[in-house]
Amino acid sequence: MRIAEALSTARKKLSSVDSPTLSAEILLSYVLSCPRHRLITERDKELSPGDREKFFQLVEKRVTHFPLQYITGKTEFYGTELRVQEGVFIPRPETELLVEELIKMLNKEDTFLDIGTGTGCIPVAVLMNKSAAFCFATDINSTALQVARENIRMHRLEERCQLFEADIFPPVDERFDIIVSNPPYIKTSSIASLQEEVKYEPVLSLDGGETGLDAYRRILSGAPMYLRERGYLLLETDPSVLTGLLELARNSFKILDIKRDIQGLERLVLLERKGSSD
Ligand SMILES: C[S@@+](CC[C@H](N)C(=O)[O-])C[C@H]1O[C@@H](n2cnc3c(N)ncnc32)[C@H](O)[C@@H]1O
Repeated sequence: MRIAEALSTARKKLSSVDSPTLSAEILLSYVLSCPRHRLITERDKELSPGDREKFFQLVEKRVTHFPLQYITGKTEFYGTELRVQEGVFIPRPETELLVEELIKMLNKEDTFLDIGTGTGCIPVAVLMNKSAAFCFATDINSTALQVARENIRMHRLEERCQLFEADIFPPVDERFDIIVSNPPYIKTSSIASLQEEVKYEPVLSLDGGETGLDAYRRILSGAPMYLRERGYLLLETDPSVLTGLLELARNSFKILDIKRDIQGLERLVLLERKGSSD
C-alpha cells in the first residue's frame, strides 16, 4: 500500500473525529518518524507491512477518540514542544493567556508558584521567556510530576524550577510574588457530558467537585500565607464558575482584572492580596 492510499483510507476511518486529514497525517508521520511534509513528497512510496500494520492500529485507537497527543507522546504549548502521556492533563491553548499575562507581570528575579502544574507547561513557557525568574510548582499526581520533571530537564530549566508532589501548596517556608493555577474546575455533574477525548484525561485534573469550586476554595484560603503582601494570584477559570470564584475571593483579595480568551469567554482572574491597611 502506498502512502497516499494509506492516508486516504485512514481519513475515511477517522471521519468521526475532529480534523481527520490532519489526524491521519500526524499518525503516519509518527509511525514513519518523519516530518509531515515528507508524506506529500513521498506519497507514492510503498509502506512496509510493519509500518502499515502499526499505522492502522493507531488509526483504530484514534477512532475511539483516544487523544492524538497521548499516542504521539508530545504536544505543543506556547511555541514549545512538551512531553505528555496518558495519566497527565494535556495543556490547552487557553492556558497560553495565563502564560502571556504572567510573563508581563513578572519582575526580573521574581519567584512564582504554579499549583497543579501537570506537564509543567506553565513553568517551561514562562521560564524560557523570563531568564531570571524562579518557579516552585506542585502537583498531587506523581505521573504528572514525572512528566513535568522531564519537560523541565528537556528545556534545561532545572536550576530555576523546583517541583513538589504536594496537595496544593509546597512544604516550604516561602513567600511568593505571584501564585498561578489552572486548577480542576469542572462541576462533577458535567464530567459525563464532556467531549469524548477529555474523558481519557485523569479525572483528578478536571473534577472541581459539586460546585466546581473545591480547588479554588483551598487555593484562596491558603494563598495569603504564601503570598507576600500585595502579591498577586492569577487563576484560570471558566464562565460557569466565575461568580462563585469571585465570591470566594472577595474576603482576602482585591479583584483587579478579568481577562477574556480569544473566544470572548472570561478565562483569567487577577487578584491582589489585601494589605494590612486595606
Ligand atoms: C486542569 S489541570 C492543569 C495542568 C497544567 N497546569 C495545565 O495548565 O495544563 C489541573 C492539575 O491540577 C492537579 N491537581 C488536582 N488536585 C490537586 C491538588 N490537590 N494539589 C495539587 N495539584 C492538584 C492535577 O493533577 C492536574 O495536573
